[in-house]
Amino acid sequence: MNLSSHTAITAVHGYVPPDVLTNAELARMVDTSDAWIVGRTGIKERHILKGEGLGSSHMGAEAVRGLLVKTNTDPKDIELLICATTTPDFVHPCTANLICDMVGIRNIGSFDIQAACSGFIYALTVANQFIVAGTYKKVIVVGSDKMSGIVDYTDRSTCVLFGDGAAAVMLEPNSDYGIMDTILRSDGSGAKYLHQKAGGSRMPPTAETVAKRMHYVHQEGASVYKFAVAGMSEVTRDIMARNNLRADMIDWVVPHQANRRIIETTAARLGLPLEKVMLTIQKYGNTTTATIPLSLWDYEEKLKTGDRLLLAAFGGGFTWGGAYLTWAYDGAKAPKLNGNTPKPNLTKSPWL
Ligand code: ACO
Repeated sequence: MNLSSHTAITAVHGYVPPDVLTNAELARMVDTSDAWIVGRTGIKERHILKGEGLGSSHMGAEAVRGLLVKTNTDPKDIELLICATTTPDFVHPCTANLICDMVGIRNIGSFDIQAACSGFIYALTVANQFIVAGTYKKVIVVGSDKMSGIVDYTDRSTCVLFGDGAAAVMLEPNSDYGIMDTILRSDGSGAKYLHQKAGGSRMPPTAETVAKRMHYVHQEGASVYKFAVAGMSEVTRDIMARNNLRADMIDWVVPHQANRRIIETTAARLGLPLEKVMLTIQKYGNTTTATIPLSLWDYEEKLKTGDRLLLAAFGGGFTWGGAYLTWAYDGAKAPKLNGNTPKPNLTKSPWL
């Protein structure tokens, strides 16, 4: 077993479904307006996965399939796949198992991580341990969420926020670049502000829970907002302090995209200019576990070898976390796939 010094992200690929839900369309569904949504959240549109029998696994599989094509990797060479998701296709089996099956990855360990919007940072942290310990050399972490499946489109305070999407990263050992530090935090007492009441073991689905619309996201937005700003600022400040990083040493901040105002306030508190902050919320909304890797995918061309990146997320639980990493390749030279994966293959599972 060879211990590796770092775990590097060596490729990234994303998938968003083709259907777009605009603010104007939402304004026809609930009492809202484009001006309110853009002004209070920064969101202009979001993508929605449409089609019977399609779940988070289908988008995750598209992201992973693209990643394999882009890196010219044989599925047989992948040693571990972790899926971060808050909207698994099923209570069981896990979505990671389904994604592996869809893309032809067989007989490896694969499992889900459920940490709401911080799921990608949690999954990255877990994958990092396997690589630095020398256990695996090729690991995929994918974040995929079909938020449209758990959002109540009669609740204007939540339905405008969320979108669907997925993105995956390839992780490999690297002696020079990669993950330098991570921080994970949680506080279950925050559950009351952001949760889904029914559908789990505490309140299995019944006709009554469905009639009362208890299978949707319940969020007390203003309270979550305050905790989110505090949590995102705290992990970013802590990770900078313990790695002796000043604001001028950071090349890119990659924040979870829940609300543009949360991102702006966090950046301002840390003295980080907005030009260094990846912003994708305007076109994808909050895709939960996918926001951070989708941002990396969107900004890939601008990323250079050695760039210092700070990742930070906050979400339901509460969970929050951060990561400091150095980028391992020149994004402008990365292979391009036109649009999404070569031939999107969102097919319903034959056994359903
Ligand atoms: N259109 C128009 N008006 C609206 C809308 C809407 N879509 N939604 C709410 N309002 C109204 C409210 O009813 C309220 O009206 P009132 O004053 O007459 O009662 C008013 O706007 C202000 O409501 P607030 O909830 O105080 O609005 P706020 O400025 O806080 O914005 C928002 C709401 C966008 C939800 C914000 O609180 C937020 O972003 N919260 C944090 C979200 C987050 O970070 N979640 C964590 C990640 S998600 C996860 O983990 C799955």
